[in-house]
Amino acid sequence: MKNIKDIDINGKKVLIRVDFNVPLDDQGNITDDIRIRSVLPTLNHALDENAAVIICSHMGRPKGQAKPEFSLAPAAKRLSRLIDKEVKLAPDCVGPEVEKMAAELAPGEVLLLENLRFHEEEQANDEEFGRRLGALADVYINDAFAVAHRAHASVVGIPRYVKEAGAGFLLQKELDYFHRSVEEPSRPLVAIIGGAKVSSKLGALTNLLDRVDKMIIGGAMANTFLKSQGLDVGRSKVEEDLLDTARDLVAKARAQGVKFYLPVDCVVAPELAADAETRVVTCQEIPADMMALDIGPASTMLFNEALDDAKTIIWNGPMGVFEVDAFARGTMDMVQTLVRSQALTIVGGGDTDVAVHRAGEVDNISYVSTGGGAFLMLMEGKKLPGVQALEE
Ligand code: 3PG
Repeated sequence: MKNIKDIDINGKKVLIRVDFNVPLDDQGNITDDIRIRSVLPTLNHALDENAAVIICSHMGRPKGQAKPEFSLAPAAKRLSRLIDKEVKLAPDCVGPEVEKMAAELAPGEVLLLENLRFHEEEQANDEEFGRRLGALADVYINDAFAVAHRAHASVVGIPRYVKEAGAGFLLQKELDYFHRSVEEPSRPLVAIIGGAKVSSKLGALTNLLDRVDKMIIGGAMANTFLKSQGLDVGRSKVEEDLLDTARDLVAKARAQGVKFYLPVDCVVAPELAADAETRVVTCQEIPADMMALDIGPASTMLFNEALDDAKTIIWNGPMGVFEVDAFARGTMDMVQTLVRSQALTIVGGGDTDVAVHRAGEVDNISYVSTGGGAFLMLMEGKKLPGVQALEE
């Protein structure tokens, strides 16, 4: 796979696919611009090389309709402030007016195309749509790691219709860190997997068990594992249909010599509410009318010990319902454990990045991925369609 530095983009028209799918508040203000800031190295490099920079992205899921609330206008404004340069916003991403704007774009100028998903052809990976986008530029750069798991026209279609295609610095960095953490790690390698459901992490759990030295399970999915080991978890969320699978995973870990850690205590409450009365109990003593909503302090200690000698740590998924303060402790303590660790620490997906951002510790983790689904797909051991398209 080529990288933007391997391609001569001097004075050329470069179409850069980014992921500006950023969260907005009710007023349409961007609440977190990390995805925009993360592609600045690529955009600045292209501008330094005197390229005419055309940027394209999706925003939300407008289902093929040009809905104003999904406009990329807020992203254009924020980007303009960040690069201290005018960012023209095209009225669409294809069509005669866009073609004219792209054709007239001078080296050193920046044009942001309007939301790709205003056209259903984007998600349908329509050939003609990919061709029309590709026709706007000489070179295509994919720097949209967070959407690289989607076989959409702007991700996998465009490379076929441009003279040259390659990866931007963000995509490259994400792949490099993932490679260092899972494919060629310094050992011991420990995976911490949390979040709500075993079902959504099944592929990742199975793949990682073949690679890690230790695996730590937290979050609501731990309940399914605990129940599979014969514990009564009260009213806690459990995926009954996955009890056998959970049991098999524990057995597989044992057979492969992977140390497998489940919580030993938890924070319980009668319901998931900010003002709910909470208690810490051992996992053997979860009351029949209560549900586990966070890991407890003894689990945190156990997990800390397991992480003590780690040389590489990969973390996906919170330890509890951290959005509610009463159940945030386990996740926030885990952030601090990673911050203190000497290991290479990689965090990604499943809102784990949100927890790290909330704790204000992004700079103290080796790498926080910008991807959710894309990061999960890598953890499943699969190739990202966006990367495959660049390689081909
Ligand atoms: C994301 O936020 O994970 C990416 O932007 C992809 O969005 P999608 O899940 O709507 O395809």
